[in-house]
Amino acid sequence: MKAIVADRPGGPEVLHPMEMDIPIPGPGELLVKVAACGLNPVDYKIRKGYLSQQREYPAILGYDVCGQVEEVGMGAPFAPGDQVYYFANLARQGAYAEYHVVASDIVDFKPENLTPVEAASLPLAGVTVIQALFAKARLQPMERVLIMGAAGGVGSLAIQMAAWKGAEVIGVCSTANMEYARRLGADHVIDYSTTDVAEEVARITGGDGADVALDLVGGESFAHCVDCMGEGGRLVFLNAFALWEKQLMETMNKARLKNLAILCELVRNSGADLRMLSFLARKGFVKPQVNQVIDLGHVAEGHRRLESMRGRGKIVIDMSND
Ligand SMILES: NC(=O)c1ccc[n+]([C@@H]2O[C@H](COP(=O)([O-])OP(=O)(O)OC[C@H]3O[C@@H](n4cnc5c(N)ncnc54)[C@H](OP(=O)(O)O)[C@@H]3O)[C@@H](O)[C@H]2O)c1
Repeated sequence: MKAIVADRPGGPEVLHPMEMDIPIPGPGELLVKVAACGLNPVDYKIRKGYLSQQREYPAILGYDVCGQVEEVGMGAPFAPGDQVYYFANLARQGAYAEYHVVASDIVDFKPENLTPVEAASLPLAGVTVIQALFAKARLQPMERVLIMGAAGGVGSLAIQMAAWKGAEVIGVCSTANMEYARRLGADHVIDYSTTDVAEEVARITGGDGADVALDLVGGESFAHCVDCMGEGGRLVFLNAFALWEKQLMETMNKARLKNLAILCELVRNSGADLRMLSFLARKGFVKPQVNQVIDLGHVAEGHRRLESMRGRGKIVIDMSND
């Protein structure tokens, strides 16, 4: 089969085409003919060598998948021809390829109202939001939630899902993305490039601060999130802090004085959470945010674009021409 592989950790230039054997599904697994594969920041992080301790090289990256079941391993509750979607186990081979093998318990049927490209844009980011905002932070209706990095792959779904939950959504993004964040359902949008975010959140909340924050950016933004929180708030961060030691200590001290819960989220494969995402997508509460469709030969450009951290919504590989 055709695949894009990395021979070693490195820059986007380590990605290149290679003919690989079609993988064979074991018991409980499915062989899926990949129709579309969504890109996520974790793809370039793994390409650079993070999470690579036991990685098999040549490594195939790409973990958000939509496709058709071709073969069914013993005991897997799917049939050839089923249209499925999922995000794959990050420790195994990914799906920048014509075929992919996956454990059937982390797979769900593709929502019928979505195209394969749309479906492949959802799983990792959507399940991350379910686990971070609903399971970890236990976001409640009417609570005020701050989304730092509101226009990206995760942020664009977080706005929609927090709005569905009935929360008051405050999105933080750059000037160019403000209208976009509003259209997704943010009640308030703050431009971090022109505005003191903490002052603006204080104004919006009458001095109370946010109840919940989702930090998708890290570094200085994590410190800004702490400044935006109200007493006893819950702050979930998805990205490494990247604050230097003194700054981190100051920030954690502020967090302690405000009695904040600082929650770290590492997304886990979960069939149940994927099925909840399917429900939200089927009902139209969550709309996929595909910003760019590329073919398999342009994955390296996709990585460069994603690494710029200026993305809006998602980049998805459409395999239908390969
Ligand atoms: N821990 C986990 O399990 C987990 C799961 C999923 C994702 N993540 C991580 O979460 C991060 C976000 O993922 P993603 O898929 O949403 O990435 P993405 O699609 O690349 O989005 C990044 C967004 O960050 C925004 N941004 C950049 N600088 C900013 C700043 N100073 N303040 C506010 N926004 C800023 C950009 O929008 P503007 O152009 O508007 O600035 C861009 O839309 C990545 O680091 C990813 O690896 C972690």
